[in-house]
Amino acid sequence: MTYPMRAIKASEFDAFRQAVERGFGNHARPEDGEFTRENFFEFDRSLAAFDGTQIVGTAIALSFRVTVPGAGPQPTGAVTMVTVQPTHRRRGILTEMMRMQLQDIRERGEATASLWASESIIYRRFGYGMATLSERWSIERTRAGFAPPITDTGRMRVASPDEFKEAVPAIHDRAVARRPGMMPRTESMWAVRLRDPEHWRGGASALFFALHSTGPVDDGYVMYRIRRDWRDGIPNSTIVIVELAGANPDVDAVLFNYCCNIDLTTTVESWNRPVDDAIWWRLADPRRLARSPRDGLWLRIVDTPKALSARRYSAEGRIVVAVQDEFVGLAGGRFEVEGGPDGATCRKTTRKADITLGPTELASLYLGAVSARSLADAGRIVENSAGAIDRTDLMFDWRPAAWCSQDF
Ligand SMILES: CC(C)(COP(=O)(O)OP(=O)(O)OC[C@H]1O[C@@H](n2cnc3c(N)ncnc32)[C@H](O)[C@@H]1OP(=O)(O)O)[C@@H](O)C(=O)NCCC(=O)NCCS
Repeated sequence: MTYPMRAIKASEFDAFRQAVERGFGNHARPEDGEFTRENFFEFDRSLAAFDGTQIVGTAIALSFRVTVPGAGPQPTGAVTMVTVQPTHRRRGILTEMMRMQLQDIRERGEATASLWASESIIYRRFGYGMATLSERWSIERTRAGFAPPITDTGRMRVASPDEFKEAVPAIHDRAVARRPGMMPRTESMWAVRLRDPEHWRGGASALFFALHSTGPVDDGYVMYRIRRDWRDGIPNSTIVIVELAGANPDVDAVLFNYCCNIDLTTTVESWNRPVDDAIWWRLADPRRLARSPRDGLWLRIVDTPKALSARRYSAEGRIVVAVQDEFVGLAGGRFEVEGGPDGATCRKTTRKADITLGPTELASLYLGAVSARSLADAGRIVENSAGAIDRTDLMFDWRPAAWCSQDF
């Protein structure tokens, strides 16, 4: 049986939303639907699978941008709301939606698709690869001393939602430039980030906001919640950092230190910190910070020459990569990449390949999240000419590490 697939009409939005929420095990709320339609939806990038008049599969893409090494933000099709109804699972509906969606993203001229995976086992088969890593942090507040102590040459202040909303985009723009994988935010994306209905809080407080400035310039922010625990009259609450970003590592440390000094709490948690965050190295007792790594942003290359010529490389070099794209073929072929810190070209070639890999591995190399050596050791890249893995690493490696603070 086949299930026709197409973008939805405005009149089908409510049914689409209900299908999405049901797919994730939620009941749709009308007020969320209204907000989503305004801020987080592009009708011509929606995709629904139909069984008769019933929507049985959903997916959308949004026109976001993602920072690539050395070259700033590039357009990406940001994929989300991926569901198939419980009545129609394991019939290939997701597979067909993925195929159509990747083709559409390529036709729009975007070099990559991107997503955050709710179910992380699924996406490799479609050529997505882990492109940024993130760490979950937790530390007992009384163990979170810094050596040497943090000195702040600027000023922290608590902010009202309105003051925060006004100041935060400019600070975020500076943070976006610091790392590959970061996504600039439009006004709509900020509206989504700052929306704070009770059912999004996971039982914690409404958002608190604080800003940091150096001289007259705002250069850091933190948004956090407090998860209250006050049993037997003893405060045992947790600071839950929702987002913390500074214009430089010193401001990051000041902001984290601020969170570690909020009274009547015992633990500070963050769901998403960069793997190479310098804060760990500043702690007096680093072992006290529990760190658990996981996947962050996933990318899918749909146009290899466009993607590889858009980024810069750490060292001058030339490498021929054979990409075997068995799912849709969009990234496949043999390509010669030649580049360095000042720019790069990537074109089809008939020369012998130095390395052979799939789109999944290419995506993981793209922002520098992993070394080619690790992927080769994992049996995921084949080295065809002596020294090619090392040469790939000299070129593709990038610091600071890729990280994405924008989940969607
Ligand atoms: C995940 C989901 C979209 C899959 O849809 P589907 O139409 O059943 O997927 P397909 O039939 O196209 O399956 C494609 C392949 O993925 C596998 N797969 C799909 N969902 C899987 C899951 N949750 N766990 C493990 N494997 C899964 C299938 O077994 C199939 O494997 P095969 O190619 O080896 O046969 C659907 O189960 C769903 O809506 N889940 C809840 C919402 C969700 O998790 N969405 C993903 C958000 S990132």
